[in-house]
Amino acid sequence: MAKETNDLMEKLVGLCKRRGFIFQSSEIYGGIGGFWDYGPLGVELKRNIKNAWWSDIVRKRDDMVGLDCSIIMNPKVWEASGHIAGFTDPLVDCRKCKGRFRADKVFYVVASNGDNVLLTAGVEADDESAARQTAIDSANSKTRRRLDQHADNLAWEIHRADKLPEGATAHCPNCGSDLTDARKFNMMFKTFVGAMEDSSSEAHLRPETAQGIFANYRNVLDTSRMKLPFGIAQIGKAFRNEINPRNYTFRSREFEQMEIEFFCNPKDAPKWYEYWRDERFRWYVDLGLTSSKLHLRDHESEELAHYAQTCADVEYEFPFGTSELEGIANRTDFDLSQHQKFSGRDMTYFDDETKERFIPYVIEPSGGVDRTALALLCEGYCEDEAPDEHGVPQKRTVMKFAPRMAPIKVAVFPLVKKDQMPEVARKIYAAAQTAGIACFYDEKGAVGRRYRRQDEAGTPFCVTVDGQTLQDQTVTIRDRDTLVQERIGTERVIEYVTERTGSG
Ligand code: GAP
Repeated sequence: MAKETNDLMEKLVGLCKRRGFIFQSSEIYGGIGGFWDYGPLGVELKRNIKNAWWSDIVRKRDDMVGLDCSIIMNPKVWEASGHIAGFTDPLVDCRKCKGRFRADKVFYVVASNGDNVLLTAGVEADDESAARQTAIDSANSKTRRRLDQHADNLAWEIHRADKLPEGATAHCPNCGSDLTDARKFNMMFKTFVGAMEDSSSEAHLRPETAQGIFANYRNVLDTSRMKLPFGIAQIGKAFRNEINPRNYTFRSREFEQMEIEFFCNPKDAPKWYEYWRDERFRWYVDLGLTSSKLHLRDHESEELAHYAQTCADVEYEFPFGTSELEGIANRTDFDLSQHQKFSGRDMTYFDDETKERFIPYVIEPSGGVDRTALALLCEGYCEDEAPDEHGVPQKRTVMKFAPRMAPIKVAVFPLVKKDQMPEVARKIYAAAQTAGIACFYDEKGAVGRRYRRQDEAGTPFCVTVDGQTLQDQTVTIRDRDTLVQERIGTERVIEYVTERTGSG
């Protein structure tokens, strides 16, 4: 990883811990890889994402209903869905240091100048170009000098550890020793249901929320009077025993998904696929992510999951690389057909108008709450200058969340802890609470420091009650981004904040 990237991620991780966005799970016991906890600010950020999604996808549409399914399901579900057989990652182990890696993320890199091999390295990376850069970055200075000298006639050979040419062996990214051949590793977490711990009681934690929707498709159809085309939406936890959880919360072992299964006539599936591809891209722009950092990428056929006919990813330029926020897939009638076959239940749909009977096709936009939260944190992180109470410019760190996503919408301060200022400030704070606005009251320390704490929390507005308030019932309201302090009537605070943050 390049140095600036490391620095930025380090600063972001530091801020998230310091201010209570994200903590390592069970940190007091040394943590546990791939699991994270959201603190008071993080949980509000996540809730705002989920509320925005639920409101835009379920509440504001006529063609969508919601669902909330159990995490553990009948084991047959995972046989039918193909997850028992196919939800695997290729795994390689180091014969010496016992390091364990995803074979499709380990690369064997060789650089030569025609006559001599100048560098061989095993590196962990997302793709070939990142692998080449990582190999250069991790080489010693002598090798780097030689690579520079021969820059014009270098030949690069880069192979993925699970697709090595005959005779080549992959090298461990940790210690450089040989790796084993790749083998399949099923990523579903196993558990037991009931008192017996044998194969008859074995069950899995769901690796996607989607199967709960497919298993309930008939129930919803029979109870909700929905007609095709329509969708079922669900937000919930999913679990994957990732071989190498990494990039902070980006690849975790427990995470939250926001999934839509949109059922339609097979002949309309291409049209709905295009529709959801565009719609979902736009949603992330509306959420406050810079559209120049968002990309829609169509999958190569070799990347497609076992159930998908076509798939596109909404990707975001994270500091550690451009990576997936959401996948939009045409799952065809794969899942419903499989569940019809394994359960014996009829999954067909009869169209009253066309008099056709068919198993619906499914378009699936499937996004991650945690990845969206991480993208908002990366997008928001900013270092600039703001004048302190004496007008002297001071460096500050500010999280420039779109107001709708900000964990706290308004902070209320008395300028000093006397002259009735706390009493007036508390009244404004109580009114904001009553109006359903996420708000914060703070009377401790210099007001400049209180502003900076709120900047780090990403609070778009700070209201300060000062000496003038007591005379003319006005307060200052400071804008986090422009730093402009407007004076408005005390009675207008709630309306002012509600209008600009979509609260209440
Ligand atoms: N039902 C389809 C499905 O699960 P997926 O691309 O494997 O497709 C969908 O996952 C979304 O879930 C991803 O786009 C991502 O946002 C989130 N996700 C998947 N694996 C994740 C992980 N290990 N950590 C965090 N989020 C993850």
